[in-house]
Parts: sequence; C-alpha cells; structure tokens
Amino acid sequence: MTMKIEIKDLRKGFKKGDQVIEVLKGVDLSIESGETVAITGPSGSGKTTLLQIIGLLDSPSSGLVSINGQDETFSKERRKSSLRNQYFGFIYQFHHLIPEFTALENVMMPLLVRNLSIAKSRSKSERLLESIGMHHRLNHKPHELSGGECQRVAIARALVTKPQFILADEPTGNLDPNASRTVFNQFIELRDTIESGLILVTHDQALSEKMSKVYQIDGGLLIRK
Ligand SMILES: Nc1ncnc2c1ncn2[C@@H]1O[C@H](COP(=O)(O)OP(=O)(O)O)[C@@H](O)[C@H]1O
Ligand SMILES: [Mg+2]
Repeated sequence: MTMKIEIKDLRKGFKKGDQVIEVLKGVDLSIESGETVAITGPSGSGKTTLLQIIGLLDSPSSGLVSINGQDETFSKERRKSSLRNQYFGFIYQFHHLIPEFTALENVMMPLLVRNLSIAKSRSKSERLLESIGMHHRLNHKPHELSGGECQRVAIARALVTKPQFILADEPTGNLDPNASRTVFNQFIELRDTIESGLILVTHDQALSEKMSKVYQIDGGLLIRK
C-alpha cells in the first residue's frame, strides 16, 4: 500500500505582540511512502514548524494538507491523532522517552496503543532493540542510558510499528559527531528494511545528501536543491 502526502500553498504565521511573523509563505510539497526527503535550512527558518504541520501536530494559517487525497488540514483532533498513530513515526532531537519506563517498555508503547498483545509487543520490541545493539539495555530507564542509546530507543519506538512515514526532526542533532554517525547509519539501515517514507529535517549537509530529494527552506518557501 502506498501513501501520499500533499502540501499546497501552506502558510503559517505566529503572533508576536500585535505583529504576525510569517514563517511559511506558500510551501508546496508532495511525497509518497518509500521516498526519502531532506528538509534543510538555517535555524529559525521554519523546519520544525513545517514538520509539525505535515505530521498533523499543528495547523497552518492557510493552505492544504492532504493525506491520500483527503483534505485533513483542519480535521478534528481525534481524527488527526488516529491518523498520526496509523501512519507516522516521530523522532525528535531530544528523545522524549517516558522517564519512568524502561527502554523495552518505551518501544512497546505504540504497539500496545494499537491493541497488540503484551507478549507480541514485547517480542517485536526486543527483536528490534537487539538488532541495533541494545540487547544489554532492555531494562534500563532513560536516565541510565547515554544520549546515543536514548536516541536509538527513540528510533526503535518510532519504527516498531513500521509506519508509512517517519518524520525525523534533527534526530542526531543532539549527539557528538561520532555517536551521531553511528546512530544515523543504524537509523537509515532500519528505514531501508521497512521502506518507510522519510522526511528528515537536518542542517547537516552530509546527512541530507543521503536522501533522494533535498529541499531548503529559504525566505518562507521550500526550494528543491
Ligand atoms: N509556537 C510558536 N510561537 C511563536 N513563534 C514560534 C512558534 N514556533 C515557532 N516560532 C517561530 O517560528 C520561527 C521558525 O521556528 P522553527 O520552525 O522552530 O525553526 P527551525 O526548526 O527551522 O529552527 C522562529 O522564528 C520561531 O521563533
Ligand atoms: Mg527545529
């Protein structure tokens, strides 16, 4: 099954006092599951804002966000939340793991939300964590893990459901260059096995060049590189 996301003439402004700051000024993008896309641009250019709107976590000021031909721009929160769970895996710069849960429990969570049994959720999650060298950390909590290990758990949590799309916002931006390279390569290997679509926000040129399409946000517009 392929899935298509279309963004048309997307605009987003934020109120600051009595001014509105226009961050996105008419962005168009079309992406199908299986494709890999990098979104680059300087800090503050609107990369996170765009990714949040694509992932139905935020609404634009105007424009269109359509999923499989259906206009979801201003759909109700319940529907958006169900679409997010059905189609997307999110990875952020900071891991956002649940601190009270172990690595294994954090990865199991999205499967349990989808009503998979505890036994199946556990075995799938164990297998995935083992495949990225985390077999010895299954029962550790985030505060007992290094930054790179936390990010690997966050990646496993995003990919365990085999989402149609992975939305990754500077997923290794918080790691030192060495850890960043290792974790990024593991992430891309996993992505290649499940063939999800990937939208990667990064300002690392070397990482962006591994994607099949590279875009830059410039002056509120998205430009193909
Ligand atoms: N919730 C918000 N309220 C007000 N301004 C915001 C909000 N989110 C983002 N901005 C502003 O929008 C601009 C783009 O932010 P962001 O999308 O986070 O940029 P990037 O991810 O490229 O660094 C920044 O100037 C930021 O201050
Ligand atoms: Mg950002």
